[in-house]
Order: sequence, then C-alpha cells, then structure tokens
Amino acid sequence: MSYESEWRARFGEDSEPSPDLPDVPWLHRVLMRRTHRRYAARPVPEGLLRLLLGAAFSASSKSDFQQASVIWVRDRGRRDRLAALVPDMPWIGNAPEFLVFCGDARRLERTGEMRRHVNDNGTLEGFFNASLDAALVLQTFILAAETAGLGCCPISVIRNHAKAVAEILGMPEKVFPVAGLCVGYPAATGHISMRLPLETTLHIDQYDDRRLDEALDAYDRRRDARYSLPREQQRSPELFGHAPFYGWSEDKARLAAQPEGQEFAMFLRRAGFVLD
Ligand SMILES: Cc1cc2nc3c(=O)[nH]c(=O)nc-3n(C[C@H](O)[C@H](O)[C@H](O)COP(=O)(O)O)c2cc1C
Repeated sequence: MSYESEWRARFGEDSEPSPDLPDVPWLHRVLMRRTHRRYAARPVPEGLLRLLLGAAFSASSKSDFQQASVIWVRDRGRRDRLAALVPDMPWIGNAPEFLVFCGDARRLERTGEMRRHVNDNGTLEGFFNASLDAALVLQTFILAAETAGLGCCPISVIRNHAKAVAEILGMPEKVFPVAGLCVGYPAATGHISMRLPLETTLHIDQYDDRRLDEALDAYDRRRDARYSLPREQQRSPELFGHAPFYGWSEDKARLAAQPEGQEFAMFLRRAGFVLD
C-alpha cells in the first residue's frame, strides 16, 4: 500500500520507499487533515457532537487526572460576545458550533478537598499537565470530527482576551482557556498546509539541527512552488520592509518577532497559578 499522494500533499516531497505498509484508511485521512474556516449552513446534530466529545475525552491523560474541560457555547448572546473580541476572525461567530477547550486544574483540587487530601494544583506542574490534557482532547476532537466529515478551526487567539473569555463563560479560578474550536460541515474542500520535513522534526537517538538552515531554505522553496504568498500579504512591511523572496521562514520569523499573549501570564496569576 502506498501513501505517496498524501505524503506529497503534506510534505511536498516523495516519501522514503517502504514496502508492505498496511492500508489504514484513517492514516490516509490524517495525512490530509486541514483547517476549515468556512462552513455550510447544515447544522451539526447534537448527538454527533456529544459522540465526538466522548471520543475526544478518550484521549490519554497525564496520571489519569483528566484535567480538561470543554465549554460548549450554545447561547447566541455569549457567542456574540466572544466573537466581538476578535472581529477580524468572523468564523468565531459564524461557525455552526463553538467549543472552548480549557485546562482545568480546579477539579483535582476539589477532588482532594472531598477526600481530605488537600493538594495545591496551581503550580507549573499543575498548569502544564492541565494544558497538555486539554490539547490532547482538542486534537482528538479535531481528528474525530474530520473522520465524521466535519471541519474545524482551533482558536487560540481567545487567550489574548482570557479575562473577558473567563467572565463570559463563568470560568472559576484554576480553569483557563487553551483554545476555542469552530466546528461545522465545510463549505469548501480546504487547503492542505505543507509541513516541515521529518529531517527537521524527527531526530534519531540525539537532537541534531546542524542542517536546519538548508532544510528551511528547501522547505520555503517547496511551499512557494505550491502557493506563493503575494507581496501584499507580506507581514508588517512598515517594520520589516518587502522581501524579494517571502517564504514560510520569513513569515514566521516576522510573526514571532512581534510579542503576543503578554496578558495571559497576568490572567493566570489572578486565576490562582504560581508558575515560578
Ligand atoms: C493551538 C492552535 C491555535 C490556533 N489558533 C487559531 C486562531 O486563533 N485563529 C485561526 O484562524 N486559526 C487558528 N489556528 C489554525 C492554524 O492557523 C492552522 O492550523 C495553520 O494555519 C495550519 O493550517 P492547517 O491546520 O490546515 O495545517 C490554530 C491552530 C492551533 C493548533
């Protein structure tokens, strides 16, 4: 069995020949996963959403602590208030369904109080474990939803408004948003974003990034051959100017050079976390 066409779609290059691969239809689908931001008017059946949430909460969990919570935003007024926080992402308000995946360090503390073995879960360890659990539940939901023909778009930009989000959704202390998720039947096929090659992301036996620069240059060229970013989409030209060749690495370097999320640390401290 060959995954050649999916591999090429995902990485823009041929896979290493490997005989006797099993034919797993789900693997073909995962390799073709894509983010969807435009949705058909078709509603998502409630029973299907609950089934997908069941699949999502089947994700692995650190120590079986189960520190993820999902807030399903069904009330139009609350959704509109969330959408108004990020007017340049209209899919937050337009998607048929919107979920907020939260790290939940509170439930374990309450469990301890109930059993009279008090724990302090507002530490970096508690925060990190809860974040990881929420991320695993989020990604499991996305893959399950795609398998059922739905499309999703995670929304971490809501963390830039964490205080307002927590108020709108009634989040208590030790509960924090990791990402929202738009869910619906896709209105279009969508675009497969090319990923970095395994030569940069997979390390055998020891970490080795000695060939990173060459690999990034080649990746930029492969991406550009498939989809070239037009000059008017170059990020912040007033700060960085216009690049004669504008690839993924230039775009991400510009994006990462502009700070984001500074208020999140303050929000977490107010929510009872001590992360030093
Ligand atoms: C944790 C996380 C947060 C994201 N936040 C946003 C967001 O706030 N708004 C948005 O439009 N897309 C968001 N995305 C979608 C990414 O921009 C998208 O994954 C990326 O463009 C690559 O596309 P692909 O997922 O189709 O490979 C997020 C994705 C992840 C995994």
